[in-house]
Amino acid sequence: MEAQSTTPAAVSLGTEITERIDRLALISADEGAITRVFLSPEHRRAADLLLSWMREAGMSAHLDAIGNVVGRYEGDRPGLPCLMLGSHYDTVRNAGRWDGPLGVITAISCVAALHRRGRRFPFAIEVVGFADEEGVRFASTLLGSRAIAGTFDDSALGVRDRDGVTMRDALTQFGLDPGHIGAAARAGREVLGYVELHIEQGPVLEAEGLPVGVVTAISGATRLVASLEGMAGHAGTVPMPLRRDALTGAAECILAIESYCRARPGLVGTVGHILAEPGATNVIPGRATFTMDIRAAGDTGRKGAAAELIKAIQEIAQQRKLIANITITHENRTVACADWLKAQISDAVAAEGYRVLDLPSGAGHDGMAMIDLTDVAMIFVRCRGGISHHPDEHTELADVEAGARVLLRVIENFQPKGLQADTQT
Ligand code: GLV
Ligand code: MN
Ligand code: MN
Repeated sequence: MEAQSTTPAAVSLGTEITERIDRLALISADEGAITRVFLSPEHRRAADLLLSWMREAGMSAHLDAIGNVVGRYEGDRPGLPCLMLGSHYDTVRNAGRWDGPLGVITAISCVAALHRRGRRFPFAIEVVGFADEEGVRFASTLLGSRAIAGTFDDSALGVRDRDGVTMRDALTQFGLDPGHIGAAARAGREVLGYVELHIEQGPVLEAEGLPVGVVTAISGATRLVASLEGMAGHAGTVPMPLRRDALTGAAECILAIESYCRARPGLVGTVGHILAEPGATNVIPGRATFTMDIRAAGDTGRKGAAAELIKAIQEIAQQRKLIANITITHENRTVACADWLKAQISDAVAAEGYRVLDLPSGAGHDGMAMIDLTDVAMIFVRCRGGISHHPDEHTELADVEAGARVLLRVIENFQPKGLQADTQT
């Protein structure tokens, strides 16, 4: 109760951020769980809350044409190119509260702290809450960052969600004009670099006893959908040898994917969703559709693995007299973080008194799309047990504070690429 009397300036960055993480987590489609998918009513409420925090922090703020929340803190004079910060505010289903929001809220709190001190820089700061990083609702990811990078593919507008709603209609219901997504695109000259703070979503920082780390690269990903077509039939009358059961075929494929990836260190493969049709206890499944998510640090290894897995699925289907249809729904290359930005993050980490640890990101991030606009870099913050995409996702207050201090220092000491080169020569 007493805490309510503290002024914003007296509250530590970590405390303010953690309180806001908790507030945002209350905005969900599911009671007692966090689910906030792209263009849903709760996504809209979350956007409005973020916009209000941005304005409180001294920024002008708006919702862009794809649903990104964009706040701008002017520099010494209006209209200067910006250092762009941010992360995403959509979630997976039954999510944790830190994946995405930590980066958006920390960036807002850093700007608020600078605003309270009246600090302005020879560059502007923009904070973006990207609308769709997870790609849960439509079979594509990074829609918000692609729109900003100018690489949004308009054909995605016709994609339907589970309920048959097209992205075009979902945008309209959200209050946006699908015909204006091009207006969200930014020019390269407007952005000096993109820095994202995010929980690690893995166990490395915890094992190293460090609160923060410097990301070297974001691993690429290939996503596929496989559909196996067999023959539906009566569960009581069709003898086992005569069946063309699509679901048992899918089961064999899934185990083949698992053993293929297990045998190759660094390669990970996941089947996260499966649908058996017609879906009744007493009917042999005539069709099974499943997703695949294949990742590795290198593009060549990942693409080779995807090609071999497609072949393996086709062979299993052939042996079982099933027809396989396999589509690649998403392909993202591995993205390296820029050396000049990494160096500035490393300096900030060291200045905060921590050992500098470089580590790759196995998870995908908006930087994978932002690289088409500008150089990117990331700060990782330790999360408990490396758990993520799960309600148990957790980051300690002290680590939130450490991450925020590093980001604040990066902003305060930021040297645009050209200027940095000038000062070094
Ligand atoms: C996003 O979290 C992803 O890596 O799929
Ligand atoms: Mn994320
Ligand atoms: Mn995620």
